[in-house]
Parts: sequence; C-alpha cells; structure tokens
Amino acid sequence: QAQLQALAPMAPVNCFSVIDSTNQYLFERVNQLSAGESCLAECQTAGRGRRGKPWVSPFGCQLILSMYWRLEQGMAAAMGLSLAVGVAVVEALESLGYPGVELKWPNDLYYQGRKLAGILVEMSGSAGASCHLVIGIGLNLAMPSQQGEKIDQAWSELRQVQPELVDRNQLAACVLLHLQEAMQTFEQSGLASFVESWNRLDYFAGQPVKLLMGEQVIRGIARGIDDRGALRLETDEGVKLYLGGEISLRRG
Ligand code: BTN
Repeated sequence: QAQLQALAPMAPVNCFSVIDSTNQYLFERVNQLSAGESCLAECQTAGRGRRGKPWVSPFGCQLILSMYWRLEQGMAAAMGLSLAVGVAVVEALESLGYPGVELKWPNDLYYQGRKLAGILVEMSGSAGASCHLVIGIGLNLAMPSQQGEKIDQAWSELRQVQPELVDRNQLAACVLLHLQEAMQTFEQSGLASFVESWNRLDYFAGQPVKLLMGEQVIRGIARGIDDRGALRLETDEGVKLYLGGEISLRRG
C-alpha cells in the first residue's frame, strides 16, 4: 500500500450516478484524456460485456469503473494486457483482505467457481501509432437476487468472500492504484512480469478442461499461460498454445 501511494497523484476520476457505459464515456473522449483518468458509476444503462454481450449493472451493487491509458508502442503491444489487468485487480482485492479470488482464462475473476468480476479492454488506433485503451471492470459487490437472474452464468459477489465489505471509495481507489501501477509495469516489460502471478491465481491450474472454438472441442489439462497470454493446454500430442478470440474454456 505504502509503495502504491508513492506513485504520481491520481489522474481525474469522473463519477456518475447513472451512465450508459463507463467504457463508452472514456472512449468518446480519448483525445482529451491523460493516462490514468477514470470513470466510475453506480449504475449503467448500457453496460458492455465481452463478445458484444450486455453487462447487467444494477444500481449500487457493483464496482463499475473504467480507466484510460495510452500505449505509445501501439496496438500490437497491448496483447495480453487484459490478463495483466486481471492480476492487478485480484492483487488489489488481496491487499484489502479478500483472499481466494482466482482468474479464469482469459480474464474473468472467479470466486469458488463462480464469476465475481469481468474485464473488458477496448482499444482504438492505427498501425504504427500510439493506441488508446479503455480498461473496464465490473465487480459484483452485493447483488439483489432478482437482478442476478438476468445474468446468464453462475456468479458470486464480494460479500461472499468477506461479509464485511470495505468502503466502496477505498475499494475503487485501491483498484485504480493497482491498475495504474500494473499499466506502468506492462508498458515497460509487457505481460512477462505478470505470468508467474497469473499462473499462481489460475482457477483451472492442472485440471482437465475443454476448449470450445466454434464447433470444435479440444480437451486437455490446463497448464497456465505463456508470455503472450496464450493458454497452455497439455494434450495427447504435447502442450499446445491457444490465444484469445472466440475461444471459451470449460471444465472438461
Ligand atoms: C465481461 O463480459 O466479462 C466483461 C464485463 C465488463 C463490464 C465493465 S463494467 C465497467 C465497464 N463499462 C462497460 O460498459 N463495461 C465494463
């Protein structure tokens, strides 16, 4: 914590009661933002999830935040970034006394086998130029059960990890500081410095899994990630590597 507070002062934090999407808010303003500027809201009316899915964000029940960053090295250098973000968020939670949160490849936070938080990294830019990144996080704190029915997969919430929740401002500040620090590290050395931590937090480590790629199903044992963020799958033909995209991973 002390080390984190020694970082540069926080960039502006834009807070809203209701917004369409915190990612959208930052995306519309990328040319006016400085790295680390963020947006927080109590509720989103058009929250975005991965693969074009909506993200259900009822009022006051989640930590809903997005942070802007500019990557001078360009888009290609952003590969694996969302995995580094996952590590940063879990480590922020650990530092606040929430143990046992894990990562499911590529970038969901899991608690006791159920999704606790999702990460959506959106980017824009042209080849050879710096790129704009918007990192969005939706973390379930205490969800009303009737709202939870709208969510299409098993979910968990932070109050299950620790019934006494820390103050939400403190939680937001801690996550933002860890994210800022992670982005500085990522800019300098890419995903490599996060791989060991990611593998420590891997929900499927050493377990039989199946990879779903369209109609194709590939079975193997999950063996963590490599330096690019590719999933290492031990199959009968040796260890194979799979990079994100339209792949999903299930217990096999
Ligand atoms: C996922 O599908 O798992 C990713 C969900 C990301 C949701 C967050 S909530 C804050 C930010 N704003 C959005 O519209 N989406 C992200």
